[in-house]
Amino acid sequence: MSHRCSGSLFDNWKGDDIIENKMKREKYLKEIERIYKRWAFCYDLIPRTYLLGRDASYRRRAIQRLNLKRGDRVLEIGCATGLTFPFIREAIGEEGEIIGLDYSKALLRKAEERIKKKNWKNIRLVQQEASQLSLNEEVDGVLSIYTMPLVYDYREAIKRAVDLLKDNGRLVILSSKHTSGFFRFLNPLASLANRPFVPRGESSIKSWEEIWEIMRGLLREVKIESFFFDLIYLAWGTKKMRIVANFGTRINTN
Ligand SMILES: C[S@@+](CC[C@H](N)C(=O)[O-])C[C@H]1O[C@@H](n2cnc3c(N)ncnc32)[C@H](O)[C@@H]1O
Repeated sequence: MSHRCSGSLFDNWKGDDIIENKMKREKYLKEIERIYKRWAFCYDLIPRTYLLGRDASYRRRAIQRLNLKRGDRVLEIGCATGLTFPFIREAIGEEGEIIGLDYSKALLRKAEERIKKKNWKNIRLVQQEASQLSLNEEVDGVLSIYTMPLVYDYREAIKRAVDLLKDNGRLVILSSKHTSGFFRFLNPLASLANRPFVPRGESSIKSWEEIWEIMRGLLREVKIESFFFDLIYLAWGTKKMRIVANFGTRINTN
């Protein structure tokens, strides 16, 4: 859709454009809230069914790429009902902390139920729009699963996520793509299966190359792998070290 800007949201924008974009953004977010409210009651079954039972192993693989240690703090953008929380907890232990961020209140309520049921003490939920991401603390890793292409201004969301990372912290994005390989006949099927979970006229299977480019610009050692008929990708990169000079200035290095 043409309303999505690939640059920073307000670059070269004038009054009317900004107002129009703000209205589109609000409408888009209302749609996100409506869609996930509708699916909240059975959300946990969706990734498991779509990925033919491989969902857990892909989540585990994403966590491995975060390179976490016990006691780390992790932000999950688009945590939904908390399907990934058990895997993150395995890596960081009770002494670590998870911040689960999502826009959908309905899904966050489900996440809250899961946390209470499991008696997990180290998970904090935040209802926030990812491109407005703002936390008071730095994190050791940021994870986002099947969410980033859905975020209205994903460039801003990725930038803010990287800003929150400690030096050498990792950002990991797991999401869907289309394939140009042998299995390309599956592309329309994948799009069709995603349709109920995205606003009308949108797709969550898009922008993967742009997202990788944004990551390459902001992080070092960005790597990408794909699996599930080349329809799912895992992209990860490491925050560039900031050198603190004697006079207190922080300089980003490559
Ligand atoms: C397809 S679901 C994926 C959820 C979860 N990560 C998982 O792996 O099952 C997309 C999630 O992104 C959230 N989302 C979409 N746009 C968002 C935004 N702008 N800010 C925060 N969360 C958003 C939705 O509420 C939903 O929970």
